[in-house]
Amino acid sequence: MRYIFLVLVASVADAIHSVSVVSLNAYDCNAVSGVDVAFASDEKSITASFPLISLTVAPPAHGYPGGNSSVGCGATVEFEDWPTGVRFAISNVTWHTGALNLTKSNLLHSLRAKVDLVVEHETNTYPLHYPIVKNYASATLLDLDIDPALNDFQGKYELSAKNPRPYWSTCFNGYLANATKITFQLGGSSSGGGTSQPGWSMDLGLVWESCYAPNETVWGQKVIRGWESCTYRETNATAKRSKALYPML
Ligand SMILES: *[C@@H]1O[C@H](CO)[C@@H](O)[C@H](O)[C@H]1NC(C)=O
Ligand SMILES: *[C@@H]1O[C@H](CO)[C@@H](O)[C@H](O)[C@H]1NC(C)=O
Ligand SMILES: *[C@@H]1O[C@H](CO)[C@@H](O)[C@H](O)[C@H]1NC(C)=O
Ligand SMILES: *[C@@H]1O[C@H](CO)[C@@H](O)[C@H](O)[C@H]1NC(C)=O
Ligand SMILES: *[C@@H]1O[C@H](CO)[C@@H](O)[C@H](O)[C@H]1NC(C)=O
Ligand SMILES: *[C@@H]1O[C@H](CO)[C@@H](O)[C@H](O)[C@H]1NC(C)=O
Repeated sequence: MRYIFLVLVASVADAIHSVSVVSLNAYDCNAVSGVDVAFASDEKSITASFPLISLTVAPPAHGYPGGNSSVGCGATVEFEDWPTGVRFAISNVTWHTGALNLTKSNLLHSLRAKVDLVVEHETNTYPLHYPIVKNYASATLLDLDIDPALNDFQGKYELSAKNPRPYWSTCFNGYLANATKITFQLGGSSSGGGTSQPGWSMDLGLVWESCYAPNETVWGQKVIRGWESCTYRETNATAKRSKALYPML
């Protein structure tokens, strides 16, 4: 089963399909059934929504008094293919939540957003033999932690911030057998308590440009050549076919 996420405009009319979603912190959230990732129809943004997570007050535990609040979730979404000859960067982020409740003594002092892109290339596919060897490259496209300094607030809340250090994605070549994974992490903390109803999301504003696709593999902040991973495609140990993802187009 494939899920179509984005049909780009005529010049790059490939479809993007996601194939799996893996929760980073299964204890804090259930990303496998709780994340939706969708591109806006004009490709100017991608939204990562976590409908199940809420700002909650930490209970006392292990001699720790508790009383501060936090919300957080992360999920990795694997895409099967990507349009050729374009790259993107994240220009801004907007956090959204409904029904935020901060009293005068609750202070929302941190909102965080991090987006990492991983591209894996199989290098010994022809002829197929094991273990499968991959070249691995990754980069952080967005990493922000800002202080909204918000208290005494009830209602729907959103806040935008510019990405001070936009980093271009690789220039995609569009090969089906290569994996593209994007990890979305959202977090928030308040001191003195504070709650929200379930449902937090972030919109990531995107900029696109055309680029030189044959240089797809010349990219990344962290590059590991000959990285061996036998597990990912051969078993379902680390990945679950996503039934949680559905197109919002
Ligand atoms: C907001 O939280 C405070 C403190 O927990 C509570 O007394 C109040 O009823 C809440 N307000 C709403 C609108 O939920
Ligand atoms: C994966 O991508 C690399 C680099 O673009 C390419 O050389 C290779 O043929 C691709 N592998 C497959 C199986 O398509
Ligand atoms: C609550 O947050 C404040 C501000 O970040 C910190 O100083 C305090 O130690 C925290 N309290 C607990 C119990 O974690
Ligand atoms: C975020 O970036 C996108 C793409 O560059 C732009 O269209 C949008 O207006 C920006 N939004 C904010 C809130 O700055
Ligand atoms: C492709 O990458 C090579 C090696 O880094 C570089 O020398 C070359 O200029 C690049 N070509 C283009 C068109 O970007
Ligand atoms: C992995 O999951 C898919 C879909 O649920 C299933 O068709 C396939 O047989 C599974 N593969 C293994 C090796 O368990």
